[in-house]
Parts: sequence; C-alpha cells; structure tokens
Amino acid sequence: MRSIITSLSPNTQSDDVLKSLKVLGNPFSWLQGPSQEKFRSAFRNWLGVENVFLFESGRSCLYSLLLSLGLKSEDQVLLQAYTCVAVPDPILWSGAKPVYIDINTETLNMDPKDLKRKITSHSKVLIIQHTFGNPADLEELLKIARQHKLFIIEDCAHALGSEFQGRKIGSFGDAAFFSTGRDKVISSVFGGVVATNNRGVAANLARIYKDAPYPSVSWVAQQLNHVLVSTLTKPSYNFFNFGKALFSLSLKAGIISRSVYPEEKVGGKPNFVLHKMPNALCELAFHQFQKLESFNNHRSIIANIYEENLDLTKYKITKTLGDSKNIFLRYTILTPKAEEIRTKANQLGIVLGDWYTTAIAPNGVDYKILGYDPSSCPKAENTSKQSLNLPTHIGISEKNAREIVRFLNDC
Ligand SMILES: Cc1ncc(COP(=O)(O)O)c(C=O)c1O
Repeated sequence: MRSIITSLSPNTQSDDVLKSLKVLGNPFSWLQGPSQEKFRSAFRNWLGVENVFLFESGRSCLYSLLLSLGLKSEDQVLLQAYTCVAVPDPILWSGAKPVYIDINTETLNMDPKDLKRKITSHSKVLIIQHTFGNPADLEELLKIARQHKLFIIEDCAHALGSEFQGRKIGSFGDAAFFSTGRDKVISSVFGGVVATNNRGVAANLARIYKDAPYPSVSWVAQQLNHVLVSTLTKPSYNFFNFGKALFSLSLKAGIISRSVYPEEKVGGKPNFVLHKMPNALCELAFHQFQKLESFNNHRSIIANIYEENLDLTKYKITKTLGDSKNIFLRYTILTPKAEEIRTKANQLGIVLGDWYTTAIAPNGVDYKILGYDPSSCPKAENTSKQSLNLPTHIGISEKNAREIVRFLNDC
C-alpha cells in the first residue's frame, strides 16, 4: 500500500506547485502586489461581509479582533476546549482571560448548556468554533450570547464553505476569522482572513492592519518552499521514513517553517504574528480559492464513503445538525483504541490524523499557563483521547477511502 497522508499541505496539486515556482521566481512581488486586493475582494464578495482584512495567519486574525475590542485584564473570553493552542494564545496576548467551555460529544462543538453555566459578569467575548468544518449549534449559542451581550467571533479556521440554515458560516457573528494554513480547507501554507460588518471594529482593524508590518522575505521564502518540500517528501514519507527524514531536515535547516512554534505551547507570541498577509501567499490562496467548491464536493464524497461503510459498532461518528452543511475538513471518528490504531495504520503506510488528541492541541502545551483546568471540561478530555481523523482532501481517492475503511473495520 502506498502512503496515504492526512496532513502535510494535503491540498497541493501540480498547478499549485507551478504557481509556487512562478511566485518564487519573482521575489520583488513577494510582499506587495495585486494578489492582495484580488484575494481580499474575491473573499469579501464570496462571504458577503463588508470589511475583510488579510493577516499572515488565523491566529493573528483572532489576535487583531481581540485587540480591536480593547479588552481589559479582568475580561473573559469564552472558547471551547478541544481546540488548538492557536485559539487561547491570542486571548492571553490580548491581556484577557480564556474560559473553557466543554463540548457536545456528538458534534465536537461547544455545549450551550456548559456555556450558560460558565458565563459571569466578566464574560465579554464568545468564540464559536466550527470544529473540523461541522457547524456549531448557532441557534442556541447566538441566543445565549445575545442575552448576555457577548461579542461573537466565529472561528471558521476549519469551516470555509460550511453552511448553517442555507447561509455561509462566518456571516452569523459580529466577526469571523478563517485560516488558509497548510492543512486547512484551502492552503497558502500560512494565511488568515478576518471579516466583520461591525463598523467600529472594522475601523479599529483598519488601524491595526495599517500599522502591521510585512513578514520578512526569508519567512515568505520558507512558506513558498513548503509547497515544494511537502510535495517532494510526501511520496516517500513512509518509505523507510525517507520522506519524513527529509522533511525534518528541511525544518532543522530553516528551509521551511513550523506550523506551531515551541514558544506557543507556553503562551508565547512568535515573531511572525500580526503581520500583513504578503502578496506571495495571497497569490497561492487566491489560486486555491478558485478550487474551493471542487475541494469541498470531493470531501463530501469521501465523507459519505466513511459514513456508509464504517462499522458503527466499533467507531462513533460525528453528528451534523439538521439544516447544516459540514465540509468535513477531516472526518473524525471516536474509538477507545485511537492511539493503537494510528500506530498500526502507520506501519501500513496510512498516516491518520491526530487533531485534538489532547483537549488543547498539540500535545505538550502548558495547561496552567493557558488557564485550563482539565476537570472543567471532562467531555473534551475524554473525546480527545479517542480522536482519530480520517483524510478527506483532494489527494485521497475513493479507492483510498475504501482501503482506510477496510483497514479500520478489520482492526
Ligand atoms: C480551531 C482553530 N482555530 C484557529 C486556528 C489558527 O489558525 P492558523 O493556523 O492559521 O493560525 C487553528 C489552527 O490550526 C485551529 O485549529
């Protein structure tokens, strides 16, 4: 069996590699150029939101939003556990306090009942995460948030193209942010979009954006290199670990960058944060944005194969709420044997995903610094230990999906 990989810039196709080579060859337009406005206005029209700003990552988009609100040290920002450290970190950087809400184990999104229990007079902001592309229970969450006058931010890092009651995810809250990171719905290796119809917030964001510098050219080069390095290493990733070693070597040599820096695991703010999204990455993102619908249609076909063929006596699958469109960035299943199965699959050349194997991913983050008490979110704790994500990206054929199902059902 050849390598089947869930991660490693999985959306990259040959035209993306050519695009990246073309951009690499034109370093004078890496920072500023026409693709910034091209991507910004295409995204703005697509989402139908008035104000859109582009930063170099989703976490910077969230940070810019929190800064635009002028939060004080006693202010609380509510977010779900079963998330990535890239969500609580910007809360800490803004000077506010993260408060973690437990999840609904059926949807892997925030549990409205636990939200109600944890709101206090200091609660100011609610972050609604649409985990793995599955729309959250917006009806309930928005109702509670409005009752308590919370500023609502939709975390759409996984949910570009998802819908709730026929409307695009990202158009429900007071503001929303998206990610075009390496493993996201569309990818420019690093990148983020923040969108709002709130005029006051937009004015503050415009100031923050204007003051934000461009990333260094060496950082931009690392992201462009990533497209090539990941493409070269994927085919041999599991062939005596050759590709894996080459990828690690490129990281160590600084040819490519990490997706999460070590300091972020302890609440630190890496140097690249709060920079404008450079033209080079906008060009990659715009190119992938044209393929959004075909990517998401493909994900839906693969997700159907999993849903229809997995042995449901062995695996628990996620529920999509009625009248919602889940784009299945990854198809997450739950099993008490998740870790054992991941290891076994790896030996057969199937690299399954490990998103949220801890309640705040990745493994090894400092819960104390992040203000997280594991006893406050028992369902997120239990779910993370059982999580196994299956790939749905454009590089996964229907035959691959059936191979994965066969392997899992035989386990
Ligand atoms: C749920 C969620 N929100 C936000 C982010 C931050 O996005 P980015 O990696 O573009 O900073 C991530 C990152 O993986 C994420 O998983």
